[in-house]
Amino acid sequence: MDKSVAAVVLAAGKGTRMKSKKSKVLHTILDKPMLEYIYDALDGIKTKKVVTVVGHQKDQIIDRFDNRSDFVTQDEQLGTGHAVMQAEGKLKDFPGHVLILCGDTPLLTSKTLKKLTDYHLDGGYEGTILTAHQQDPSGYGRVIRGEQNNVTSVVEQKDATESQKKIKEVNTGIFIFKAKTLFKLLKNVENNNAQGEYYLPDVLKIMIENQMDVGAMQMEDSTEMIGINDRVMLQHAQKVMQNKINLELMQEGVTIIDPESTYISPECRIAQDVTVYPMTFLKGNTMIEEGAVIGPNATVVNSKIGRNTVVVQSQVQDSEVRDDVQVGPFTHIRPKCVVSNKVKLGNFVEIKNAKVGEGSKASHLSYLGDCTVEEGVNIGCGTITVNYDGRNKHHTLIKKGAFIGSNSNLIAPITVGEDGFVAAGSTVSKDVPSESLVIARGRETVKKNWRKK
Ligand code: UD1
Ligand code: MG
Repeated sequence: MDKSVAAVVLAAGKGTRMKSKKSKVLHTILDKPMLEYIYDALDGIKTKKVVTVVGHQKDQIIDRFDNRSDFVTQDEQLGTGHAVMQAEGKLKDFPGHVLILCGDTPLLTSKTLKKLTDYHLDGGYEGTILTAHQQDPSGYGRVIRGEQNNVTSVVEQKDATESQKKIKEVNTGIFIFKAKTLFKLLKNVENNNAQGEYYLPDVLKIMIENQMDVGAMQMEDSTEMIGINDRVMLQHAQKVMQNKINLELMQEGVTIIDPESTYISPECRIAQDVTVYPMTFLKGNTMIEEGAVIGPNATVVNSKIGRNTVVVQSQVQDSEVRDDVQVGPFTHIRPKCVVSNKVKLGNFVEIKNAKVGEGSKASHLSYLGDCTVEEGVNIGCGTITVNYDGRNKHHTLIKKGAFIGSNSNLIAPITVGEDGFVAAGSTVSKDVPSESLVIARGRETVKKNWRKK
């Protein structure tokens, strides 16, 4: 038996209740679009092919995810069964099985998808439905079981009788079918129901009428099927995901002072004995090493923070900050920085495309852009690397042990030699030789008794 799996993701619907110019599946949870969660979950089970059915706002979706899926268009939204049919062209000769998912259920995990596919393949079913128990099943399709407790059909809310509405086992909208069987039987699905739509779950009924084996697996954690239809559900799903991530991190040895106000992306890796203070956002592919203290009010994006480093009320983006570094309060580390061990960057220090060597300090009010600062350098308060001449950016090199006095401008390209010394208030435009002092400021004059005259 061919055990390969392809996936069809349904995302052609209008998402009316989001009230947005943006496609529903591009709305984000912890800064990641819903649809990306689906593709990531599919990556986890190594599908052979992914086909996404798009319709409304399709250009936005294709632009964003061109590299993650094939796309087919459903011009008119005539129902989930009709939507799946649109993918037939791309999967006609596919010998394996087809998973069907919706683009608006971002909490679904690859663990669940793996369990479902294993269950389906091991059981040798023609089709399998993933069901869930919902305390409040309203809005969902109800799962109808027969005398031997086997699933016989799904009845949509709008078609359900009063007694069927009381059933708490619902259709998650997630299925896996043998590809050939699915596309053959979809043609027999009719639309004589309350919504006049071609319902995908009706394929199950047809299978049973044809004495085929149908499987049904119930999801363990029913929050995974939460479907996003409006911004209230979006917020709810975000909370569920945030709680799961924070809980797991705490169980792994991370101290999170206030999980309610701490936002950590699913990709973040955080080591033991890290402390995270409130109002902290750890985004994208961020890694925090042992003993670091982050927050309050810190944002770290796609960055690495080393051991025992402290980041207080500061922002770090696309950079590496190594061990025992003090960052903040109010420091802005912009992309492409590497900050070595034991550095101190204090309030209102902005750095960009900068390498800062071990033990160097910029404690207050500085701009260090496009520069290399070697080890043991002291950057005085108010130092500016003047990197931009209106056309091009230029580099500044400050060598080992140099001392830059307060309120200095270093006009790049420029080098300050080893142990060089720039007097406070200087505007320096020529290289400073090593061990030398440069003073480049107006000479101070004192005019005695000037006020009386
Ligand atoms: C569907 C199921 C219901 C299940 C629920 C789970 C059907 C008939 N009903 O209901 O049993 O409990 O999901 O969330 O399948 N879509 C298209 N084209 C269409 C119609 C829908 O691409 O013509 C897409 C939507 O964009 C969405 C997904 O399919 O991503 C589900 O459609 P939706 O209209 O939300 O179905 P529900 O009424 O929620
Ligand atoms: Mg829905």
